[in-house]
Amino acid sequence: MSRFTRHVAVSVSVLTAFLVAVSAGASTPQVTSGTGGMVVSVSAPASQVGVDVLKDGGTAVDAAVAVALAMQVTWPEAGNIGGGGFMMVHPGPHQAPVCIEYRETAPLAAGRNFFQPNDSTHTCKAVGVPGTLRGLELAHKKYGKLPWKRLVEPSVALARDGFVVDEGLAKSLNDVLHSLAPTGYEEFRRIYGKPDGTDWKAGDRLVQPELAVTMQLIADQGPEAFYSGTIAQQLVAEMKRGNGVITLDDLKRYEAKVRTPIHFRYRGFDIYGPPPPSSGGICLAEMMQMLETFDLRSKPRWSAENVHLQIEACRRAYLDRARYLGDSDFVSIPKFLTTPEHARELAKSIDPARATPSLELASDIPITTESSSTTHFSVVDGNGMAVSNTYTLENSYGSRVVVQGAGFLLNNEMGDFNWFSGVTTPTGRIGTEANLIAPGKRMLSSQTPVIVLKEGETRLVTGSPGGRTIINTVLCILMNVLEFEMDLETAVAQPRFHHQWLPDRVQIERSAEKKHAAMIEDLRQMGHTIRFVGHQGDVHSISRDPATGKLQGVADTRLSGSAQGF
Ligand code: DON
Repeated sequence: MSRFTRHVAVSVSVLTAFLVAVSAGASTPQVTSGTGGMVVSVSAPASQVGVDVLKDGGTAVDAAVAVALAMQVTWPEAGNIGGGGFMMVHPGPHQAPVCIEYRETAPLAAGRNFFQPNDSTHTCKAVGVPGTLRGLELAHKKYGKLPWKRLVEPSVALARDGFVVDEGLAKSLNDVLHSLAPTGYEEFRRIYGKPDGTDWKAGDRLVQPELAVTMQLIADQGPEAFYSGTIAQQLVAEMKRGNGVITLDDLKRYEAKVRTPIHFRYRGFDIYGPPPPSSGGICLAEMMQMLETFDLRSKPRWSAENVHLQIEACRRAYLDRARYLGDSDFVSIPKFLTTPEHARELAKSIDPARATPSLELASDIPITTESSSTTHFSVVDGNGMAVSNTYTLENSYGSRVVVQGAGFLLNNEMGDFNWFSGVTTPTGRIGTEANLIAPGKRMLSSQTPVIVLKEGETRLVTGSPGGRTIINTVLCILMNVLEFEMDLETAVAQPRFHHQWLPDRVQIERSAEKKHAAMIEDLRQMGHTIRFVGHQGDVHSISRDPATGKLQGVADTRLSGSAQGF
């Protein structure tokens, strides 16, 4: 369910070749460079909105706010005001990065026995209290320069006047429309279906008049319109129609938070990722500090030995994720998890020649026998402020519930909680205590927007969608660049792989199947179970050359996207 871009000014023939490449599962990232500012996202009109803000003298955070709002209009599968996420900000050279955390919360009426085994996540019940507008407001108050209204107006225009649908968006819309059950989802079909009932095609125009009214309210009244005004009333009315439990009180109480990032060092680089309620920063710290104990450069990147070590590091970090991680405002998270000592201990348990069965590692967790979509964008301005933002509705198009009259989708993030206490299965359901539902609690996330600094200056901004695969997608990019010294374009083009403790199998992008056939056979011999997938993640990244200040924007082409800079 996850997805993912050259400069917009590509010729038609180049664009066609690119689209053919995408459908064949190949990945040739799109690249552009500049020194004035850079925005890389999945959506070309949204990247354009960000670059316009930078050219108007806005900061990277101003641009990020405008891009996030524009993607509510131009990338509805994940761009949102009805969801939540994590924004890492590096305010400028030699300043400490911060995390603006705007994860959804459980409604006050939801407790640990909230879900029943057959509950669907495509219902109002699965909706968490949205955090996006409070998060963008907080980021803007701390680091913005341009007026709020200036940042919202482009999305009003995009919704009101419409915009040209590209191949990636047409595919995204057609996929979801074809997946819907024949009944229900009338509002969804009315808002996102092509008016004549045929499939969307590149070149069509998507106009969203109700959303234009909603965005105008947010431009004029600020986020208050969403948390206590007209939009709040509309959202609660939708809850009543669909047996959801979010109340006006839930919305009024929602707060975004400034949190201290998880920080660790790797080969002299300072890496900053989001802290709980994301598991991304902690898992990345564990995995990379484990991997740093091995001499990886003595073997090629795609040797079975190196891939095996990375898989084993993932397995161990994801077990700690299941065992310990949840909302740190509700559960205490052990401090040792991110220490180099803990990583060294875990690394010692790795057999360099054999896969460790996941269940052997987890004697303290009772295992029962019971049988994407997010988006990331990166922004850097000419003064060295950097933003790494991942936000989500959870599944592609979230709960599929559109707030009637307001034209926007609600998340189904409640699905990220552990639903059933004590029920941890080999198939990947987790029932450990730390991430059980409680009123007002934030559900555990895997979103991993990352900023890498060296000597106080931004070197790399990256992140991805992809649910639990996110952390491993980011790990692949960081290892490719920081350990194996690939340029960013090459790093993004490499096949990706994922192991999440349970289920006990390695997921590898199909592009590796022929290219690295011998390595894959060696992994099997070591005891790994392999499963191939079409693509993993959608990484929109920026690197910065410290000597020249040159920014390179690299957009992943696994979905669609756009790197724009000047
Ligand atoms: O926060 C999380 O970890 C998930 N809700 C992210 C979901 C996701 O990335 C879906 N697919 N692209």
